Amino acid sequence: MSSEAVVDGKVVEVRRLRTPEEYRMITSAEVEVWGISDYSSVVAHHVLIAADRRGGLVLGAFERDSGRLVGFVFGFLAMTSNGKLYHYSHMTGVVPEYRYRGLGYVLKLFQREYVVNQGLDLIMWTYDPLQSPNARFNVGKLGVIVRKFYVNYYGELRDSLNAGMPTDRFEAEWWVRSKLVSSKLDGRLSIPTLDDVIKLGADVVTEVRFEGNLPVLVDYHLNRGSELLLAEIPNDLNTLRSHNELLIRWRFGLREVFNHYLNRSNYVVVEFLSSFNGGFRRNYYLLWRGDVEKLLGGELPWNYVR
Ligand SMILES: CC(C)(COP(=O)(O)OP(=O)(O)OC[C@H]1O[C@@H](n2cnc3c(N)ncnc32)[C@H](O)[C@@H]1OP(=O)(O)O)[C@@H](O)C(=O)NCCC(=O)NCCS
Repeated sequence: MSSEAVVDGKVVEVRRLRTPEEYRMITSAEVEVWGISDYSSVVAHHVLIAADRRGGLVLGAFERDSGRLVGFVFGFLAMTSNGKLYHYSHMTGVVPEYRYRGLGYVLKLFQREYVVNQGLDLIMWTYDPLQSPNARFNVGKLGVIVRKFYVNYYGELRDSLNAGMPTDRFEAEWWVRSKLVSSKLDGRLSIPTLDDVIKLGADVVTEVRFEGNLPVLVDYHLNRGSELLLAEIPNDLNTLRSHNELLIRWRFGLREVFNHYLNRSNYVVVEFLSSFNGGFRRNYYLLWRGDVEKLLGGELPWNYVR
């Protein structure tokens, strides 16, 4: 089983790995994708082999002409506290020059097919909720939902994407056989606009103003009770890294927001919207306080499944 993608005119083959050397190529890609300087942070090639041969999955994306590995996904079998078997997707990575061109999406579709063929219906992973590209990828493109937020999940991580920041994480649930996901993937589920959801009564719980091109989280509200809520996140977290006090305000402010609305008040992240205003891209999570079974069945508050 393999699939091909064309990225910037280059053919990339997505497939399972064949030799121990190919698993070692993944460890080098880990270093490149996350900017890892401390090798104790790399998942070793023998762990990848062990998981891949015991019901997990490791996929590589190889440039056909050069054989170079430009992306990968790695996950293993896992079990919920209720004894439900699922696939835990621990790492998805695309090297910088291939990012935001759809390769990650191809890897995840392949992973979904494999897991569905195993008879499972759930893939889970965690990600930093403040990373807009990941939010768009996970929630906006793949159709994951989020019900849980973790504070400093891994403790300190010493790669360049995470260094110096607490590892707050969303738990992504990708219900790979659900109508929600299939209609998202086949394009029947449009993303509503900001105006659409505000007309439906959504409250924005974050107050943001711009200092030059830098977004500042001025305030946030924990006392809203509408069925739909919007929480804004910064468009470019990496730019904020050189303005540490602003980054900290976002990190700790949104920690309160997600802890309150997801962990304590049973809201679910159901969509991720962008609006373009005055040259700025503004990004928002849409939270809904509704029935998850209905949501997975494609019954959404804005009725967009055609
Ligand atoms: C996360 C990752 C695997 C996704 O793979 P990818 O090939 O870049 O993903 P895709 O191109 O399919 O989707 C990314 C989307 O984010 C969008 N995006 C990029 N920057 C964005 C921003 N600032 N705001 C909103 N969306 C943004 C892209 O335009 C694209 O959406 P589109 O298809 O509608 O244009 C990859 O970017 C990556 O390796 N990142 C670094 C490592 C990482 O964070 N891994 C995941 C955690 S384990």
